[in-house]
Amino acid sequence: MHERSTTRRRFLTAAAGSLAAAAGGNVRARGAAVKTAGKLAILGGTPVRKGKGWPGWPYWDDSVVDEIVKTTKSRVWCRIQSASGTVPTFEKKWAELNGSRFCVATGSGTQALHTCVEALGIGPGDEVITSPYTDPGTIASILSSRALPVLADLDRESYQLDPADVERRITENTRAIMPVDMMGQPCNLQAILQIAKRRGLKVIEDACQGHLAEYQGKRLGTIGDLGCFSFQSSKTIACGEGGAILGDDEELMDRCYTVHNHGTSRRGRTEVIGPKYRMNELEAAILLGQWPGVMERFERRNRNAAHLTARLKGCPGIAPQKLYEGTKSGSFYLYAMTYRKEHFSGASRSAFLKAMAAEGVSLSPYIAQGLHKEPWIDHILGQPVYRKMYSPERLKAYSEDRACPNCDAVCQELVMLWASGPLLGTEKDMDEVADAIWKVYENRDALASI
Ligand SMILES: Cc1ncc(COP(=O)(O)O)c(C=O)c1O
Repeated sequence: MHERSTTRRRFLTAAAGSLAAAAGGNVRARGAAVKTAGKLAILGGTPVRKGKGWPGWPYWDDSVVDEIVKTTKSRVWCRIQSASGTVPTFEKKWAELNGSRFCVATGSGTQALHTCVEALGIGPGDEVITSPYTDPGTIASILSSRALPVLADLDRESYQLDPADVERRITENTRAIMPVDMMGQPCNLQAILQIAKRRGLKVIEDACQGHLAEYQGKRLGTIGDLGCFSFQSSKTIACGEGGAILGDDEELMDRCYTVHNHGTSRRGRTEVIGPKYRMNELEAAILLGQWPGVMERFERRNRNAAHLTARLKGCPGIAPQKLYEGTKSGSFYLYAMTYRKEHFSGASRSAFLKAMAAEGVSLSPYIAQGLHKEPWIDHILGQPVYRKMYSPERLKAYSEDRACPNCDAVCQELVMLWASGPLLGTEKDMDEVADAIWKVYENRDALASI
């Protein structure tokens, strides 16, 4: 196998951005990195990183606590109590920060996505194409409207939707594409937007992991017709559970507000079918309390990610997530890599992960299997509403054409660092991650023989 033939493409993409700027900077050469090479810690050697944790997550500081206390004491705990409470303030600030005209805050990313599906009038009989390699909330948002989630395969190097497979799966019932920005880095939005435009489809961006990341001059979540975020605890901006929708189309965003407010519009009339998905004021207080350092933390993650990527350059069998042309920055919810055991003398991924943990750097696999392999497909195939709304031929084809081999490969090959907290560490922390990987690589024969 040609080991690094993809390297140029992988990072050519970030040429103008901070990712590449840091990657091309003053980074220790690999020679210096392997000073730690010696006996693997798993075999009794000295760990690269000993007794050290990572910056804690979720983030909080006095400003977050002050906002919570202030909101608690105000007795304004629900957004409809005040037009200037924390939720409306957060909506204004989140829209501004992302360069969008409107924002509607929700109680979760799943709620945000479902609100968009409903607001676009997508329902039984309709199909939405999305990724099998995502949080179940992505498909839950489509299923909740009794539409059909159609799963397309991935690009094996970026872990993102493969536009060619998306296009192949369009039918006369397809109404929208829901691309997912996995790990918080942009998916191939340019190609997906072109397909959507050509085929007359809406695009609901699942940017639930993609806070603030920039692609072709815009932030994620502001590129499709509507964009959604999650502020669940693990995300790079978090409030426990929370979500938001961004959009520029005033009428559509007004409809999102109405849907998320149990169908009741800003005019006070109950106009459509809708669940109650409002963010509460204490959640918004946690988000507003984080505002002062939010950009600094985003930039620090990007600097550290670029440094780590540069330090891993040339390590056979470890390929950091491929980024697409036009990627200026990522959210780096996860720092993900492909592990190819053939370059580690055949040592399995789990052996590699155990060796890394012994070196003091815990990496993990991510999604164990794609959603195309989960039981929900068989469940919905038996549901009366689906049998009523979709022809037997369509359901048969749907059942049979569910293979996503690249997704299967990604589930087996991916290793990652949970990055929301760890990428807020120091450059030395990143060096230790890279040193540990190089050390395991240098000792691959010993690892394979355990
Ligand atoms: C890609 C993606 N989509 C949707 C969701 C759902 O968001 P939430 O958990 O806030 O409902 C998540 C959350 O992990 C996610 O990562």
